[in-house]
Amino acid sequence: MTDKPSSLSDSASLSSTDDIYANSAGEQLSGQFTFDSAVARVFPDMIKRSVPGYAETVAMSGVIAGEYARDNTNLYDLGCSLGAVTLAMRHGVKAKNCKILGVDNSTAMIEQAGHYLALDEGGVDVELSCADITKLNIENASVVALNYVLQFISKEQRLNLLSNIAQGLNTGGALILSEKICFSDDEQALQDKLHLDFKRANGYSELEIAQKRSAIENVLVPETEADHMARLKEAGFSRVIRWYQCFNFVSYLAIK
Ligand SMILES: C[S@@+](CC[C@H](N)C(=O)[O-])C[C@H]1O[C@@H](n2cnc3c(N)ncnc32)[C@H](O)[C@@H]1O
Repeated sequence: MTDKPSSLSDSASLSSTDDIYANSAGEQLSGQFTFDSAVARVFPDMIKRSVPGYAETVAMSGVIAGEYARDNTNLYDLGCSLGAVTLAMRHGVKAKNCKILGVDNSTAMIEQAGHYLALDEGGVDVELSCADITKLNIENASVVALNYVLQFISKEQRLNLLSNIAQGLNTGGALILSEKICFSDDEQALQDKLHLDFKRANGYSELEIAQKRSAIENVLVPETEADHMARLKEAGFSRVIRWYQCFNFVSYLAIK
């Protein structure tokens, strides 16, 4: 038995409650949402209370990594934030001599991720770096996770990023892509309502919900499932399945 935490949820004391939008004069309210130090500080609480199915997606990313990781290859966690998926993959990998690269362009996130990594006792090599994933060289990869990140990349850059990932994956390698999606029909209103109910059930006030929505508008730009499927095929993936959905948040497994 170890008394050191092996996942971000075990290390809750490192993070605080998300109250960024609780007051009308909050620090972030003057501008658009960014992944700065204020967000990094509360991120585990924020994402758990805002993204339905987040914990399952993180845990199953570890399971999927266990299935697809191959000996002597790299695994990437792109837009890793505090490294929840990095650590889940670290504990899921059964293959030998793998390396996991966690990459994020927020210095606050990478700095915090380093603290969580230091508390973890997994045996797989992990390297965290602060870099732009749209300019990254991806090579010899068996697994790439891109969880809730593509939605923050400009639409013009999305195909290039996915093509670059496909190019860096070995044949048979896997991309785990998790996203908030939108709908082209009247399902949108129903899904919006359920997502709102989820946030209310997790203790967010109407003020917090409204202020966050206005800060994140045009920053998080969701697309339809049809858009994702078509782009993944165009990028070079031969098979794509939706392995998980919780309201308007989905996770795909794309195989090269
Ligand atoms: C919603 S969070 C991702 C959550 C994380 N993947 C997880 O599962 O816990 C989005 C992250 O993507 C990062 N990000 C956005 N654009 C990026 C870019 N161009 N390069 C690297 N990281 C980026 C942000 O800094 C942020 O930490």
